[in-house]
Amino acid sequence: MTDTKAVFLIGFMGSGKTTWGRKLANKTGRAFIDLDETIVNELGTSIADYFAAHGEASFRELESRILKSLPLDQPTIIATGGGAPCYFDNMTWMNEVGLTIYLYLPPKALWDRLMQTDIASRPALNGLSGEELLTYIQSKLAERESYYLQAAHVANQLSLQLEELVRL
Ligand code: S3P
Repeated sequence: MTDTKAVFLIGFMGSGKTTWGRKLANKTGRAFIDLDETIVNELGTSIADYFAAHGEASFRELESRILKSLPLDQPTIIATGGGAPCYFDNMTWMNEVGLTIYLYLPPKALWDRLMQTDIASRPALNGLSGEELLTYIQSKLAERESYYLQAAHVANQLSLQLEELVRL
């Protein structure tokens, strides 16, 4: 990981990108950047409010633009939003400029984790019941996995140790 400037953590909502990103940044001394947080700071409003006012297509353009404007001249760990790799050429671009790591979790494990979070803060999940949420995760993950699996490294979070990431 020493030679790589940018490390991108990708994966579904609830896969632990921010948590692992912070741990990895602490361990390696790299700067940590959370893409969602950067977007919120730039907008001055929450992602849920932006979705409601401008729609998803507009959010995806903004997300892609902000992703590609992140600093690449210093060693960073970047936690992306769950949809970021799946729009425009973002996955190809991340693979060109840095090291991509997919944090894999099966749908039921994602569901368990997401059920413990504030669902309303994630616009795609807002209003879904527990059962609907599991169906949504299964179908959305199936749709997105072809992008996620383009990552240079796939880390199975069920057995993941920080050392596995540090060694990359
Ligand atoms: C989204 C994931 C969110 C955020 C937005 C859309 C998605 O990020 O970017 O709500 O489409 O998967 P997290 O994966 O950090 O929750």
